[in-house]
Amino acid sequence: MIAYLNRKYIPEEEIRISPFDRGFLFGDGVYEVVRSYNGKFFMMKDHLKRLERNLKEVRIDFKGIHGIENISYELIKKNPVESKSDCSLYVQITRGISLPRKHTFPVDNNPTVFISLSVIKSGKDETEKGVKVLLWEDFRWSRCDIKTVGLLPGVLASQNAVEHGASETVWYRNNLICEGSHTNFFAVKNRTVITPPLSKFILPGITRKAVLSICRKINIPVREEEILKDKLEEYDEFFLTGTLTEIKPVIQIDKMKVGGGIKGPITKLIQEEFKKAVYLK
Ligand code: PDD
Repeated sequence: MIAYLNRKYIPEEEIRISPFDRGFLFGDGVYEVVRSYNGKFFMMKDHLKRLERNLKEVRIDFKGIHGIENISYELIKKNPVESKSDCSLYVQITRGISLPRKHTFPVDNNPTVFISLSVIKSGKDETEKGVKVLLWEDFRWSRCDIKTVGLLPGVLASQNAVEHGASETVWYRNNLICEGSHTNFFAVKNRTVITPPLSKFILPGITRKAVLSICRKINIPVREEEILKDKLEEYDEFFLTGTLTEIKPVIQIDKMKVGGGIKGPITKLIQEEFKKAVYLK
């Protein structure tokens, strides 16, 4: 596949990056993951808006945000992607190179921009059958609303889930459910959809936003309110959302089975509406 690095389109195997890049040295960068359906990127504007906000939050001065959409479509054209394949686009912007290594910002502003595309294999099984998740006390930092490349806690949490036969880890802080290691978390109670309100402990997910607007459109009541870890047995359904995850039913949380271990009716309805939405846009 051909990827993009600092104004050049390069075969992935030939891409070289300096070990003095601050993304490598400090995790000093932010990223986005965008998905395409039938050759069109879903909610691209929202992803770019979030990226712009994140760059501002971490004070990376990057002026090329408006060029990213064109580069992304260029990557679809330059790569052997069948028109019906869904793709995942990865965008990473770091604060560039510091040689020698130094914590403070480099004097020359020269961010590193890396964009790559990959074809997605469908995860239909989990979408239908649902997934198991594990709860873990959140040990990330206090700015989880920023999508930074410093993902070590998320990496450890994802690996731990898989090693214990689960698909995702869901973080909690002081009895409050936050989000998954790479997903947002939703619950359903008496046909009302509930998700934790946005805060510094949650990424403002684009799929979360899509789901909230779908619920409003089809008149499913929604509430952004706290979900308590020790009250999880009071809910009827749970699901996860994310750009790559889409909408996945949760059928088990730790040892607790949910909804008899099968996908719930509200989750199913939202999945169907989501499918319509992604192919329309
Ligand atoms: N992860 N919360 C976290 C911590 C995430 O990393 C993600 C996305 C989400 C869902 O956000 P969105 O709907 O905008 O994808 C929530 C991406 C996909 C990743 O790291 O691969």
